Amino acid sequence: MIELSRKLDGSNDTETFARDVAEGLSQHQKTLPSRYFYDAAGSRLFQEIMALPEYYLTRCEFKVLTENRQEIARHFAKDSFFHLIDLGAGDALKTKILLRELDRQQSSFDYVPVDISGDAMRQLSSSLQQEMPAVRVQAVVGEYFPALEWLHENKPERKVVLFLGSNIGNFKPDEGRNFLKTICSYLNPGDKLLLGVDLRKDPDTILSAYNDTSGVTAEFNLNLLRRINAELGGEFDIAQFQHYPIYNPQEGVMRSFLVSRKEQEVYIRDTGRTFHFDAWEAIHTENSHKYSMQQVEELGKACGFRVETLFQDVACRFADVLFTVT
Ligand code: AVI
Repeated sequence: MIELSRKLDGSNDTETFARDVAEGLSQHQKTLPSRYFYDAAGSRLFQEIMALPEYYLTRCEFKVLTENRQEIARHFAKDSFFHLIDLGAGDALKTKILLRELDRQQSSFDYVPVDISGDAMRQLSSSLQQEMPAVRVQAVVGEYFPALEWLHENKPERKVVLFLGSNIGNFKPDEGRNFLKTICSYLNPGDKLLLGVDLRKDPDTILSAYNDTSGVTAEFNLNLLRRINAELGGEFDIAQFQHYPIYNPQEGVMRSFLVSRKEQEVYIRDTGRTFHFDAWEAIHTENSHKYSMQQVEELGKACGFRVETLFQDVACRFADVLFTVT
């Protein structure tokens, strides 16, 4: 396992968290970055979300990968060795569908899961060792770009990058483009990217996925305030905020908010500041973009990729798009 150093500027994670929170809550339209959803409790809640009847994304992608695994594996293998780089691998439940197939086809590759969590990478390495001992695993603990840079400098062979789960949808459009451009800059012509994207569909289906009847997504959103309380000495009264998701079908964006139920002041120790909330004032916490296929093609093209093949479910809810670097 390779562990890449995380912070080069000497700042620690709590300081950065406090700075980001203060900056977001000082804006005229308050925001909090969605990347802070994923502490241990938030990651557990996200696992629960993925199993919800309303949250179709995970089940659809599972189906797409399962039904097309043989063809996907053949596109990857191309009769020469490659590194399969899985950005944000986690427990790699979906990637294992492809790994089993690549293993079955006796493809020549190694698997490079990349994740910020050392624990997740240790667990994944040992579960793969047990389940698929023939698959060579080289886990990397670190942020995506340092990992890709390290791979670019140390592994000259062919590369196939996985970015599954519609994680691209959580970036702002310009950030998403920059993200894909940066991935492309670490690849060579002919290298590939398999990108999971949630497609545009009946707005009610999308809204329900982020507004489940059992309230798990609400807890996931509110957990951001719990995390600020626990890690930054925040004094949010969680009961005085409510989850409010809204889908804009023209823009194809699902937006989630936390709305203050009353006028209130909230002190956050590590920011050294008190923040004022008007009654019904909202904090914007997340964007989840939904794409048309034309948008996906244009996005890829603007970032140095062309669509090689598209895999989607029969209801066209979710697509895994195989891009090639041009
Ligand atoms: C991780 N990401 C793709 C999820 C999404 O669908 O945007 C996060 C999520 N937020 C609420 N539910 C799920």
